[in-house]
Parts: sequence; C-alpha cells; structure tokens
Amino acid sequence: MKILFYLPTADSAAWQRDFVRALPEAELREWRAGDTAPADFAVVWRPPRELLAGRDDLRAIFNLGAGVDAILALEHDQPGTLPRNVPLIRLEDTGMAPQMAEYVTHAVLRYLRRFDEYQTLQRERRWEVLEPHPRGTFTVGVLGLGVLGAHVAQTLASFGVPVRGYSRSARQVDNVTTFAGEAQFDAFLDGVQVLVNLLPHTPDTRDILNARTFAKLARGARLINVARGAHLVEQDLLDALASGQLAAATLDVFRDEPLPHDHPFWQNPRVTITPHVSALTLREDSVAQIARKIEALRRGEAVGGIVDINRGY
Ligand code: NAP
Ligand code: GLV
Repeated sequence: MKILFYLPTADSAAWQRDFVRALPEAELREWRAGDTAPADFAVVWRPPRELLAGRDDLRAIFNLGAGVDAILALEHDQPGTLPRNVPLIRLEDTGMAPQMAEYVTHAVLRYLRRFDEYQTLQRERRWEVLEPHPRGTFTVGVLGLGVLGAHVAQTLASFGVPVRGYSRSARQVDNVTTFAGEAQFDAFLDGVQVLVNLLPHTPDTRDILNARTFAKLARGARLINVARGAHLVEQDLLDALASGQLAAATLDVFRDEPLPHDHPFWQNPRVTITPHVSALTLREDSVAQIARKIEALRRGEAVGGIVDINRGY
C-alpha cells in the first residue's frame, strides 16, 4: 500500500513517523513536484493542484483538517482537478470538539460576566461594579450544528444560557432550539446576544457575517468567529463595532493569515484576536482516525467524513 503525504508545516516529519508507526505495512512518501508515481491513498493539507490532478489511481484522499475549503477551491477554480470517484475524507472531531467548546465557552462567559469590560476598567484604575447580564436572556446563537457546532451548543447550554442552533437541514440537539435553512435564518438571529460561527466555508456561507446579519442581532451583540475568515465581511464588522450595533468580537480566523501587521483589527480595543488556534489538529488522534479509515476501506467497509463535493462540505 502506497501513501502520498503532503503537509507544508514544520512538524511534517513527526506526522510521517507516526503514520509509518500506525500503518507499518504502508510505503509512505512525501510528495514533491513532478511525483506522478502510483499511490493508493493521499494524506494532505492544502495541497498544490499538481498533487491531485489526474490522480484516478487513488482510493481516497484524506484531508488533514475538518474544513475542506482549500481543496475544494482547487476544483472550483479549475473544474476537473479532483479525480472523479475518489472520495475526499475530512477529519471528524479528532479532539477538535472539546477544544472548540473550551475556546467558545471561555469567550461567551467572558462576555456574560463582562470580563472584557472589567479589563478596560482595570487599565483605567476604575473600581466599578457593572450590572450583571441576566443569564436567562443572554441568548447564544451557534451557526452550524455539525460535529463541532453541536458539541459547542450543548456545552454552552449546560451554563444555563438560552442556546439556538442553525443548520442547513433540520437537526435536534438536546437543550438547544434549532432552526434550519434560509427561511428560518432571520428568526434564528433575532435578538441573539452572542453569535458563534461554526459553518464550513462554501459558496452559500461566504460573507454570511455581514451588515444585514449583524442588524438582526440584539443591539450591542458580540461575534465569535472560529470557522473561516471568508465568512466575515471585515468592513461590516468594523462599521458595526463603530456604530455600537456590535459591542465586541473574538476572532480566530481571518481572510489573510497571518493577519497583516497594518490590519485595523489589531488596534481595535473591541476585537480579541487569536492566531487560528481555537481547535488544533491533534497528531495522535488524527493519525489514528485516518489509519482506522484506511484499514476499513481496504476491507471494503464504509467510512464517515466523506465530503459532498457539490454541497461543499
Ligand atoms: P460539519 O460537521 O460538516 O458541520 C457543518 C454544519 O454547518 C452542519 O450542521 C451543516 O448543516 C451546516 N451548514 C453547512 N452549510 C450550511 C448553510 N448553507 N446554511 C446553514 N447551515 C449550513 O463541520 P465541522 O466539523 O463541525 O466543522 C465546521 C467548520 O469549522 C469547518 O468547516 C472549518 O472551517 C472550521 N474549523 C475551524 C477550526 C479552527 O481552528 N478555527 C478548526 C476546525 C474546524 P447540516 O447539519 O444540515 O449538514
Ligand atoms: C482547521 O481550521 C480545520 O479546518 O481543521
């Protein structure tokens, strides 16, 4: 069994070592430009077009992340890039759901308990007690109820705040009021105090965090974007923060990463920035899941996490 491997990060060698340990019978090789030799599986993150184009020999392509937007952009820009009949398989959770729940819960509780405002008061050496937000009306809306969004929504509900969730098809999540499809989008947004984005980046969801969306939220609402930078119309966020329609934003993902030095977000006191770390790809869990799926496919069994290319996630 031959595996093509491509991960353009400094820890690529450690990943390759762990894959070889998990699949000792596999012949794993790092892809280099010009490599068209046969392979059975590809394990990749943000691969160049040449790696995938015409690769009909593959039995599956594994994406080393939950989001497949970078791979699907290759197909979108040049249809036919992805080999037909070769499943594209993404990571499912692999330890990302608890990390996402920690990150989002921290940000929501920070806003609920007004720690962001106390931080400002501290800088000004002001001893002032702020009126607490009533928990019962501090509604959190989670966009996306997939592997990550459903777990985040459920975790938030355990803190007693009202939680809403939004997905494409109807979903049921314990203790979460769910909404589905464009027809219910405005009802989902209406009066939300904290909007959390955990949608995949697709043509339907690009720019979804825009002025119209912000206008439907409660005045002074907060935004937490942990999905993709392309979901957010950045100028609309800056305008909403300036007008007071939004009070604050916690952003983990950006259109340009790393966020450019001169970007206005850096200087905005209402914006909290982290460098795309809300849910890291954990090596041990990810290698184990992919190795299990490769073994299952070789036995002719079905596996989860297959991307619907037309749907975009
Ligand atoms: P997932 O399991 O595929 O879930 C996607 C959810 O979004 C589903 O509930 C889906 O609806 C919903 N959805 C998709 N298109 C929609 C639309 N047009 N309108 C309404 N709902 C829509 O994905 P996941 O594993 O939870 O991951 C979500 C995203 O998180 C990834 O795509 C990635 O971009 C991002 N992510 C970020 C980080 C980070 O560190 N910042 C880490 C991991 C992942 P249905 O339920 O009806 O299908
Ligand atoms: C990270 O952003 C991922 O999509 O896994």
